[in-house]
Amino acid sequence: MIGVSFYVVAASTVRLVSDSLFEDTVRRQTTGVSEMAVMLGEQMQGETADTFYPKLLQAARSGGGRLLVVDRDGKVMFDTFDERCGTRLALQEVHSVLGGKDADYGFHLQDGDGAQQAPSVLDAVTKRDVQKIWVGCFVSAMDGSLTGEGGALVLIASVQDTVDSLIFIRDRMLLVFAAALIAVLLLASLISRIITKPVAELSAGIERMTKGDYQHRVHVPGKSEMAQLASAFNQMSEQVRNLEEARNQFVSNASHELKTPLATIKILVESMMYEDEMDPGLRREFLGDIDKEIDRLSSVVGDLLTLVHIDSHKLKLRRERMIFADTVRETSARLTPLAKKRGQEITTQITDECEMFADPGKLAQVCYNIIENGIKYTPDGGKIHVRLRRVGRDAVLEISDTGVGIPPEDLPHVFDRFYRVDKARSRDTGGTGLGLSIVQQIVRLHAGSVTVQSERGRGTTFIVQLPVK
Ligand SMILES: Nc1ncnc2c1ncn2[C@@H]1O[C@H](COP(=O)(O)OP(=O)(O)OP(=O)(O)O)[C@@H](O)[C@H]1O
Ligand SMILES: [Mg+2]
Repeated sequence: MIGVSFYVVAASTVRLVSDSLFEDTVRRQTTGVSEMAVMLGEQMQGETADTFYPKLLQAARSGGGRLLVVDRDGKVMFDTFDERCGTRLALQEVHSVLGGKDADYGFHLQDGDGAQQAPSVLDAVTKRDVQKIWVGCFVSAMDGSLTGEGGALVLIASVQDTVDSLIFIRDRMLLVFAAALIAVLLLASLISRIITKPVAELSAGIERMTKGDYQHRVHVPGKSEMAQLASAFNQMSEQVRNLEEARNQFVSNASHELKTPLATIKILVESMMYEDEMDPGLRREFLGDIDKEIDRLSSVVGDLLTLVHIDSHKLKLRRERMIFADTVRETSARLTPLAKKRGQEITTQITDECEMFADPGKLAQVCYNIIENGIKYTPDGGKIHVRLRRVGRDAVLEISDTGVGIPPEDLPHVFDRFYRVDKARSRDTGGTGLGLSIVQQIVRLHAGSVTVQSERGRGTTFIVQLPVK
């Protein structure tokens, strides 16, 4: 594009310059020859050919060219070079003046005899021939006693200087054009390399990512848009890698949680199969264990389904006007028998009914999971205290126990999936490590927050904060 526009500009400049140069010459010479024709026509009066000729020579010298006088038939009567006398000048412009025009002109290569009149000066320039020179032929009608009516005066003057300067300008333009073109091409290839290199690197990175390589990072230095794109891509592949890892971890944890009860069931069933004479009491005990393991399996599967639902955004809250205090009271009451079995006491302190627009079933699950943890991780005879109050526009539920507590290094992880502080003991108590992550997800869906404070050996407090709408 740049090359083409530059060429157009250069060509029109050369044309403009040449037109103006030649127009000027034509105007000057045409006027000159017309004036000379009038003057010489007058000077012919009463002269013979011999006395007129020196006057013509004089005029030619002052006019700066060769002068020829032709009669009405086009035959040369006088020639200041003394070569063409008696011959006919077969020039187009001479014919047109003899045919009645006042003046005319043409450009010719000197020995071309009018054969190649150039329709445009540019063509004259391009049809360059170093051996020949370009001349201008300016003709004016001339009447005089020697020529009779209808003769013509012909001035032949060199225009080679003008043509030479045009050729010089054109060559210069061509040179500049070629240099500019090379510079533009070099620049274009450089720029395209600067642009395409990061694009190629990025697309190679994307290709590797689609093949499952999430480790690969793209390097594009600088602060350009491409560099920003590359860093966005790197962040994205880091996230994909984390997600991939989390997914693998989740699948392996889930399979592990399902495998353990299944293995126990298998052992129990096999021992019952191979022992024909089994004591009915022992058989009942085995069946009871199998039943417990099945309960555990179904609770794990239920928790997993809940989490998967939340993750895939399929879980919709069924919000309704509800009294949160009622939910807290009911859940505590439901868990009281479990606490009693271990000699524990659940106390409730409710200072506000906390009417809100929320999902009562899901909030009951939140209370249940936290209070159940309190019971599970508190030794026999301990206390679980449930407190509900209103702080500003929030309902604040605090569940504290006098249990084993959580070590500080484990505190940030208790909401992680499958995370258990004491792996062995939690399994004995039937924990999977999913309860608190479900609590956290439900609270987040309600635009609330859940935090934990704990002191080892002294007890734990979970604080749930929910906006009251
Ligand atoms: N009140 C508490 N006191 C001490 N430790 C606790 C308490 N609540 C939770 N934890 C610790 O945090 C871990 C995660 O709790 P979470 O409720 O998520 O799992 P879980 O109780 O082990 O299993 P489940 O999925 O059946 O609830 C528990 O295993 C336990 O180690
Ligand atoms: Mg739990």
